[in-house]
Amino acid sequence: MGKIILAKNLSISYDRAKIISSSSFSVENGDFVFLTGVSGSGKTTVIKTLYGEIKPSSGDLYIGEFNLSKISKSKISLLRRHLGIVFQDFKLIPEWSILKNVTLPLLIAGIEKNIAEDLAIQYLSKVNLSHKADKFPEELSGGEQQRAAIARATIHNPVMILADEPISGLDEYSASLVMDLFKKANEKGITIIIASHSIPKHFNINFKQLHIEKGKIYELA
Ligand SMILES: Nc1ncnc2c1ncn2[C@@H]1O[C@H](COP(=O)(O)OP(=O)(O)OP(=O)(O)O)[C@@H](O)[C@H]1O
Ligand SMILES: [Mg+2]
Repeated sequence: MGKIILAKNLSISYDRAKIISSSSFSVENGDFVFLTGVSGSGKTTVIKTLYGEIKPSSGDLYIGEFNLSKISKSKISLLRRHLGIVFQDFKLIPEWSILKNVTLPLLIAGIEKNIAEDLAIQYLSKVNLSHKADKFPEELSGGEQQRAAIARATIHNPVMILADEPISGLDEYSASLVMDLFKKANEKGITIIIASHSIPKHFNINFKQLHIEKGKIYELA
């Protein structure tokens, strides 16, 4: 299988504030991972580092063959094509319909608009949002926007999905829809990283936990 994430003595800081200090961990291709920790512990910071938004302040971080300490801007774009990202604040494009938002990763991959839209309709139905396809993000509730963001993050069969609090704020039914989508993606071999302060109850899949505490990331068995 091989490692998709390898961190060695990884530190991450904002100016002088050290958020993560000298932590080592790895994730295997195809793993299902929960990244846990209390509010403010650094989950979003770690997720941002994994997609190249924040540069490690020291140590090594590899995503596949990409060395995130030394990566160029153009390589970051290349890396992100292989990722599906669910941002904590969703980042849907306000001027675009929900349908068009969901097609975005396919358009970036050069897939024709009609084909992309057909697939987007399928993915919207998986998150129970078919009826909102023609609406704009501001016309949706927070949970609906979150589900649209999840459809967008999974539609292009990424190598790895990074999801920041993807079910916080969802009711039990929507949360289970979303977790099911991640589970199905994982069964296809997609590595899943979910940042969440806790692990959902009744979650019946083998997973690995990376836990952040006092600035250190620990692998829990
Ligand atoms: N741009 C920034 N500049 C300086 N400090 C920041 C910045 N963003 C976050 N921080 C700080 O880094 C720490 C970790 O924040 P982060 O957002 O990663 O936490 P989190 O675990 O995702 O929290 P939550 O569960 O509330 O989303 C916090 O103390 C926060 O104040
Ligand atoms: Mg966060």
